[in-house]
Amino acid sequence: MTLKAKIAAGRAARVAALPIRAATVARHDARVLADSVRWLALSREHTNFTYDLEPRNVEHLAWFVAAIAEAPLDVIRRYIAELEADDSLRDHLERQAVASPRRGLTDRSVRYGRRAGWYALVRARRPERVVETGTDKGLGACVLAAAVMKNERGRVTTIDTNEAAGSLLGGSYADAVDFRAGDSAALLPKLDPVDLFIHDSLHTAEHEAAELEAVSLTADAIALSDNAHVTDVLAGWAERTGRRFLYFQERPRRHWYPGAGIGAAWRG
Ligand SMILES: C[S@@+](CC[C@H](N)C(=O)[O-])C[C@H]1O[C@@H](n2cnc3c(N)ncnc32)[C@H](O)[C@@H]1O
Repeated sequence: MTLKAKIAAGRAARVAALPIRAATVARHDARVLADSVRWLALSREHTNFTYDLEPRNVEHLAWFVAAIAEAPLDVIRRYIAELEADDSLRDHLERQAVASPRRGLTDRSVRYGRRAGWYALVRARRPERVVETGTDKGLGACVLAAAVMKNERGRVTTIDTNEAAGSLLGGSYADAVDFRAGDSAALLPKLDPVDLFIHDSLHTAEHEAAELEAVSLTADAIALSDNAHVTDVLAGWAERTGRRFLYFQERPRRHWYPGAGIGAAWRG
């Protein structure tokens, strides 16, 4: 037995490996610290953070959407690239950010993160009725509006308790969107059956479950949750109602936030 092998088998191994272990975790923490400092210096956001995704993560998102939409991978990749290349949407969002009453808390750079998956799903499935709960500034609503506009089919309803939500909406994007102010669990039962449902409002398990209870879905509807990195509500609901479930985890690029995700439930 070599000395190295003897140490590895003994009690002293952890101590002997400490410098390597400490250097590994320090490299990781230094990266997070550098991203945190850059973000504190450059970003205005205090909640609902925006970021781009790591390139490999975008590729995983394309596979995820292709599986749910039952669409060819290259088509989904094209939709994701289409959103990134949409200068009209980008210009609109930049203009709205500057004019927004919440401009002090809104970054000028446009970064879609997981919403690129929402976009590709709408493009691939061409839903008639899309409902998003939780509007906030309206970034998701604008992305969804851009997708239904490209499809030349469908409308988006977005619901928020905050009457002033949706500061990024405007122009032709606002024309494709119906904004409803109020509690989502109370408003959802009043809507026509939905083809694509996105829970992104109050992120408690109770409210997520209440929305899934309240919303009326078409037979082949897809339900997404922006809370599936935190709760098992959508997965449990999918299992109880005979649906499939998949989860995509974001990997933000150069951001301290570890990322949210997309939970998806659908009848396959
Ligand atoms: C995470 S943000 C939504 C982000 C948005 N979907 C986007 O893509 O940027 C959550 C929003 O849900 C709203 N909200 C909280 N409770 C709600 C409720 N019970 N019904 C509807 N909206 C609610 C909040 O006011 C907040 O604007």
